[in-house]
Amino acid sequence: MEFFATSAAPARQRTDCAIVGIYAPKRLTADAGLLDKAAGKAVSAAIAAGDIDGKLGSTLLIGRTTGVACKRILVVGLGKKREFGERAYRKAVSAAIGAISHTGAANAISYLSRETVRDRDAYGVARLAATQAQNDIYRFDELKSKKGKKPRLKRLGVASTGRGDVAAMERGLKDAVAINAGIELARDLGNRPANVCTPGHLAEQARKLGQRFKRINSKILDRASIKRMGMGAFLSVTAGASAPPQLIVMEYNGGGDEDPVALVGKGITFDTGGISIKPAASMDEMKFDMCGAASVFGTMLALARLRLPLNVVGIVPACENMPSGTATRPGDIVETMSGQTVEILNTDAEGRLILCDALTYSRKFNPETVVDIATLTGACVIALGPHHTGLMTPHDKLAEELLDAGKRAADVAWQLPLTEDYAKPLESNFADFANVGGKPGGAITAGCFLHKFTDGLNWAHLDIAGSAWVSGKAKGATGRPVGLLTQFLIDRARAS
Ligand code: BES
Ligand code: MN
Ligand code: ZN
Repeated sequence: MEFFATSAAPARQRTDCAIVGIYAPKRLTADAGLLDKAAGKAVSAAIAAGDIDGKLGSTLLIGRTTGVACKRILVVGLGKKREFGERAYRKAVSAAIGAISHTGAANAISYLSRETVRDRDAYGVARLAATQAQNDIYRFDELKSKKGKKPRLKRLGVASTGRGDVAAMERGLKDAVAINAGIELARDLGNRPANVCTPGHLAEQARKLGQRFKRINSKILDRASIKRMGMGAFLSVTAGASAPPQLIVMEYNGGGDEDPVALVGKGITFDTGGISIKPAASMDEMKFDMCGAASVFGTMLALARLRLPLNVVGIVPACENMPSGTATRPGDIVETMSGQTVEILNTDAEGRLILCDALTYSRKFNPETVVDIATLTGACVIALGPHHTGLMTPHDKLAEELLDAGKRAADVAWQLPLTEDYAKPLESNFADFANVGGKPGGAITAGCFLHKFTDGLNWAHLDIAGSAWVSGKAKGATGRPVGLLTQFLIDRARAS
């Protein structure tokens, strides 16, 4: 979809569909009022008839209008005016896009962006609309023999209140388009099944990014190199699989000789659990176990499109976690690249095993900051549900930056404590420590495991097990946290 900003008033503006709001109960916004007047009270008549009252997310389409330049008026309920914030605004935009998709409109202009959205400026309001709209029209049908219809809506305008705002909105739309591309890539990669999205397929994405963008150099390390570097933990996870593992490295250079930000993404293309095999129910969803990796690819793409002036290195350890005669057994002890030994008590706690070696590897780049992103624990889903990504870090300033970026990008995270107490269950009689503790505080124990490999690094861990995909009828990858990560980098670029 294409986006544009416009400052034209609604009654005179030609468009297939003018989107205006109504607050609960039955309170027209100024723009709805202007259209109502020009269109011979078409909107207020519908309200009087009881067709719409302003309930958040409700819609009413008024077609064949006279007296106005638009072909249709879509009235959208915005809920109570004093509760109109980011959540309500997104819901209203979403409802509008949904309603328009049932019409023949190829373009539309939203006047909802002229309302005051709590804590959002013109830039933010435009960007939110574009990201929400693009997310809503996303479909994954590349593997269906009959493709779905392409969405008819091709161009969406966001109306501004004045001249300065048009420029700010244009910036918001431009950033949104880059971020949307990153989100879309992450969703596509996540949605592809494990027989398509293999470790080799992920490596191919890195090569493509390297070819497409001058500023990105990618490098793929194979099993022999992984072995040579002493990544015993990574190797133990791939031991049962026939698909070869890949250590994928993408360097984006936009910041001269500054130390880079390292993004480390879990790339398990399928997680059976290994010998500690998972139950059959919903096991298909473990194709999403590479969504951390997908968010790194998506963020690299967004960053390259935005041409941000900083250095970023994306690191993705990619492999399958499979049971077989060559698979790692519970009780096996491996030596990590850091030299520390790990007793693998549960082969299903594999994410931390590939990540610990990738985190050690990241030191090679002398990173200023390291953020790892992983669908790491079911416990995080229990703790936070699908809404917030789990954030763990011993560094308060970094926590604040990431939490703030999440809020700004409407891709939120919530911090969990990461104190020494939670590392206690990892004690082992046979190795330096084990790869699992008990169930209580499982998301944090996993964080503590990673912390053992990040001494001296400005490091944070994002557990996206709950936020990276949705289950049920709308099953599919969300593209999170590409929004949060890209925002974090935008803010970094601005601060330096
Ligand atoms: N990929 C899973 C985590 C996961 C499970 C994410 C369900 C989303 C939904 C991870 O590799 C895993 O299996 N973790 C185990 C750890 C346990 C053995 C300590 C878990 O969470 O059950
Ligand atoms: Mn697992
Ligand atoms: Zn996993």
